[in-house]
Amino acid sequence: METGSYVKIITEWDIVAARQLGRNIAKELEFGTVDQARITTAISELARNIYLYAGQGEIRIERLNGFGKRGIKVIAADDGPGIQDIKKVMEDGYSTSGGLGMGLPGIKRLMDEFDIISTLEGGTVIKTVKWTQ
Ligand SMILES: Nc1ncnc2c1ncn2[C@@H]1O[C@H](COP(=O)(O)OP(=O)(O)OP(=O)(O)O)[C@@H](O)[C@H]1O
Ligand SMILES: [Mg+2]
Repeated sequence: METGSYVKIITEWDIVAARQLGRNIAKELEFGTVDQARITTAISELARNIYLYAGQGEIRIERLNGFGKRGIKVIAADDGPGIQDIKKVMEDGYSTSGGLGMGLPGIKRLMDEFDIISTLEGGTVIKTVKWTQ
């Protein structure tokens, strides 16, 4: 079963709203405070990337429940310029904006599942999942 909600990312304030939505759902799913922090950090980084590189997009958050497992799924989607070299952006320290280049590799470490689909015509969709212990 899946139920979800989303936040459109248009302004910098929407990054805060996405983070808040994630925190509320993570709490509701009874993630511990450390996992809540991991999840909200991942959401902030995804939302910030949308804002910086795609201009706008959305963060969708779904509750996952079934087969005795509970989790949270965070999907970041945009119609921006896409990512040319996915392997490269997953390396620590790779940035096209003078950032630390730790966003995407950091998210991968914080979450249990991580998947990027990106095309130069269709923008970028990043799906991540964290399961409760
Ligand atoms: N949604 C996106 N659309 C297009 N390009 C993206 C998107 N997200 C990330 N990128 C590209 O991937 C690179 C790496 O992203 P990452 O978040 O790891 O680092 P950063 O944003 O450059 O720096 P940091 O997040 O550490 O401040 C970015 O510099 C950008 O070129
Ligand atoms: Mg980033």
